[in-house]
Parts: sequence; structure tokens; C-alpha cells
Amino acid sequence: MAKVIAVANRKGGVGKTTTAICLAFFLGRRGKKVLLLDLDPQNALWAALCHSGEKGSGASGALELVRGEASARDIVQTTRLLNVDLIPFGNPESVTHQDESLFAMPRKRAAFVRVVASLSKKYDYVIVDSPPGASALVEFALLLSDSVVIPLQCQPLALRIMPRILRDIKELIVSANPRLTVEGVLLTMYDFWQPISHEIADQVWSYFPKKSTFRAVIRKSPAFERIFDSEDNPLLQEELDEELLDYDVIADLVVSREESSAESRKRP
Ligand SMILES: Nc1ncnc2c1ncn2[C@@H]1O[C@H](COP(=O)(O)OP(=O)(O)OP(=O)(O)O)[C@@H](O)[C@H]1O
Ligand SMILES: [Mg+2]
Repeated sequence: MAKVIAVANRKGGVGKTTTAICLAFFLGRRGKKVLLLDLDPQNALWAALCHSGEKGSGASGALELVRGEASARDIVQTTRLLNVDLIPFGNPESVTHQDESLFAMPRKRAAFVRVVASLSKKYDYVIVDSPPGASALVEFALLLSDSVVIPLQCQPLALRIMPRILRDIKELIVSANPRLTVEGVLLTMYDFWQPISHEIADQVWSYFPKKSTFRAVIRKSPAFERIFDSEDNPLLQEELDEELLDYDVIADLVVSREESSAESRKRP
């Protein structure tokens, strides 16, 4: 069974989707089979990784599954990334406000969880991207997952809401998903030339327990902005920009944690 990892932070624009794509890419490059699940109605993953034409209304995904319009078989798409498949959010042109409430319905949730459990037999990792804010979709992403990566942009405002995010996760662990752990707080858009980046790293690394943070950062670089460019994705270049490799370090940490916890589960 795959390990299911959500990428979540209620603050927008902190690098959740970038983290989901890059983590999936570097896990795939290591030979791991990865399924990306997009639970954000912006449907950005499909546009970045599957779609290359001028037009296109999107492929079926999570939305069509909860509506009962598509089956598990119809919603898994191949991507341009090696070893990485995708369940898109769904056709963005047809999303309505009511759709989100479908993801809050216990019966729909249970059916979706069964689909992910059955699909996950074919994968090593399922990476779940979630939208900003506090919504049924974020709650559902955390409910589905074994662990959560929390990207934190290196700026003071992001740090201020961290205690609230961790409180939300603790509440969810107690109330709905006792298996959920914090994979790590991940500092993104780190600028070595800005003292604020160093200050935030110092604070985060002293505030949170070592096992709940990644002691490696993601640098700020224009290379990451092009990840959403379906025509010129830097992950598809033969030679990768050096900054992109920051996520390879994170993929390495994720895999080695998983391997050492599998080892300790085997021990009597
Ligand atoms: N390390 C980085 N360096 C520079 N720019 C970055 C980096 N990571 C992400 N970005 C840029 O920041 C913006 C927000 O990133 P992204 O979409 O991944 O955030 P998000 O948390 O998923 O946003 P949302 O909350 O809207 O879903 C994008 O324009 C992206 O290209
Ligand atoms: Mg996003």
C-alpha cells in the first residue's frame, strides 16, 4: 500500500502545489510509483502536467468521482513526469459551490477513501495537493492521508498562522484520523540574501520538534515559476536547474524516513 502524503497550509501561495509536483517528480525519478491527487478546484496539476493544447475543458477527476459521473478507472491520467500519474480535480468549467459540500458527506468520503485505497496498491506514494483556506476539501485531504507536509513561505505572516495550523491538525488527529502525522514543516522561497529567511528558519527549527520539520530548505528561484508552464516545464529539461534539486533532498528524506519506519515495524 502506498504512503499517502497531503501537502497543506491554509495560507495561499506558500508553495503547496509546487511542493506536490516537485516531490512527486523526484520520488518518480528515484523509481517510486507516484499518484498525485489534486483536491484543489483550481485544477492546476492537470493544466501543468497533462494538458498541452490551446483549449481543453479538463479531464474527469475527483469531482466527477464524487458526483458519481466517473469511475475509478476513468479518473487516473498519465502525466509527462516519469512514474507519476494524476487524478485531476476535475473539469474546472463545471465546478459549482455545492460541489465542495460533496466532499464533506460521510458516504461520499467513505467511497472515495475506498477508491484511493484500492488504487494505492499500485503505487508507492500518493501525494495529495489541497487548496488554501479551511474547507471540506482540506479536511478531506488530511483525512485521507498518513502524513502531511506543511510548506511555509519564508515571511513573517506565514509564521504567525503556524500555531493555528498545527492546532487544526492536532484536532483532526484526535477527532477523525488518528494515523495522521506531521511529515514536516518545509521552508519554501528561502532567500539566502534576506535576513528574514534566516530568522524564520531559526524560529521554526527551535519552535518545532526536530522530527516535525525538514532541516533543509527550498530556495527562492524563478525556475519554480516555470513548473506551471505546460510548454516549458523545467522538470522536463535534460539538465535540471540546481535549485530544483532542493526538492530531491526532501524526497530523499521522505523515502529514508519511510524505509526506517518500515524497518522498525518489522522488528519484534
Ligand atoms: N521556491 C520558489 N521560488 C520562487 N517562486 C516559487 C517557489 N515556490 C513557489 N513559487 C511560486 O509562488 C507562487 C505560489 O506557488 P504555489 O502555487 O505552489 O502555491 P500554493 O500554496 O499552491 O498556492 P494556492 O494556495 O493558491 O494553491 C507560484 O507563482 C509559484 O511559481
Ligand atoms: Mg496550490
